[in-house]
Amino acid sequence: MRAFVASPAPETLACLAEVPEPEPTSDQALVSVEAFSLNRPDYLYLAIPGSTFRPGIDAVGRILHPAADGSGPAAGSRVLLHSPEGGAAAERIAVSTGQIASVPDSLDSATAAALPLGGLVARRLLDRLGDLAGRRLVATGVGGGVGQFLVQSAGGAEITAVAAQDEPWEHLPQLGAKVAHRASDLTDASFDAALESVGGELGSAIASKLRTGGTFLWFGQAGGEPITLDFFGLFSGGQSLTLHHFVYSQGMTGGDREDLEALVVLAASGHLRAEIGHRGSWEETPSVLQRLGAGRMAGKAVLSVTG
Ligand SMILES: NC(=O)c1ccc[n+]([C@@H]2O[C@H](COP(=O)([O-])OP(=O)(O)OC[C@H]3O[C@@H](n4cnc5c(N)ncnc54)[C@H](OP(=O)(O)O)[C@@H]3O)[C@@H](O)[C@H]2O)c1
Repeated sequence: MRAFVASPAPETLACLAEVPEPEPTSDQALVSVEAFSLNRPDYLYLAIPGSTFRPGIDAVGRILHPAADGSGPAAGSRVLLHSPEGGAAAERIAVSTGQIASVPDSLDSATAAALPLGGLVARRLLDRLGDLAGRRLVATGVGGGVGQFLVQSAGGAEITAVAAQDEPWEHLPQLGAKVAHRASDLTDASFDAALESVGGELGSAIASKLRTGGTFLWFGQAGGEPITLDFFGLFSGGQSLTLHHFVYSQGMTGGDREDLEALVVLAASGHLRAEIGHRGSWEETPSVLQRLGAGRMAGKAVLSVTG
């Protein structure tokens, strides 16, 4: 079968190749992939020199062979899947049934393919904060896949996105966020929580916008530079914070099915929508990966597996 693999020419990141058919273990179903979405980790793993990563963490398709142990949906069922180890940018993939959720016909394929990783990260970030009612959140790096779900899921909280004027940000107010283009535009230091995923100067500056005792959820470094925290710099803000290094899969031992099913219900009922910044054929995978790497994709990119 055909699948995208790490490219021997590093500048193209990934290329189509003929690979062996997947061999499902007893708890895995074989899925025929209709479309997949690309995520920042696809880019990050492929950019590692000598990478053997196969892209495709999130996809939508149909069950070709159900799992031999009897778990999961029946043959022919329409499903979305989340495969943290990649491999879904392929004609077929074997996936644990703990990583699959059924998709109703009413939910379009692009939305289904866009939901898993971004939706799981957003959901679990917000879970970390507990009751959101009346709280004020500030978030960075939310122009892409995770951010759109974060903004929509923030419930009773007010969320301010810090997004540079020349980055994709126009969809964020429609989804419910206030937008500031620089940290310095935030004149008050009274946010209850900061959700930080850019790093560098912006990430460092956001820490000083928290109220005393605020929460700093640190979940990425899209700009490539680490944050630095200046002890004296915090005197201009709340003067004390709790910092959490957040990894969405931490502590999740039973698979992601329950949360994936919850995301499907929210999307199918119109309570969560996916901003699709690019739709195309899977042949566009290398160029879409480059756009993702540069932070130039508004929302998600969804690519169809074509003959
Ligand atoms: N901790 C975890 O478990 C976990 C899991 C998955 C993903 N993540 C992280 O979550 C963050 C968002 O993921 P995503 O899938 O939404 O990524 P994405 O679609 O690539 O979006 C990343 C966003 O980062 C911002 N950005 C600012 N400077 C950038 C730069 N120099 N290069 C690239 N992007 C830049 C952009 O938003 P603005 O336009 O708003 O600046 C961009 O839209 C990433 O940092 C990712 O690594 C963390």
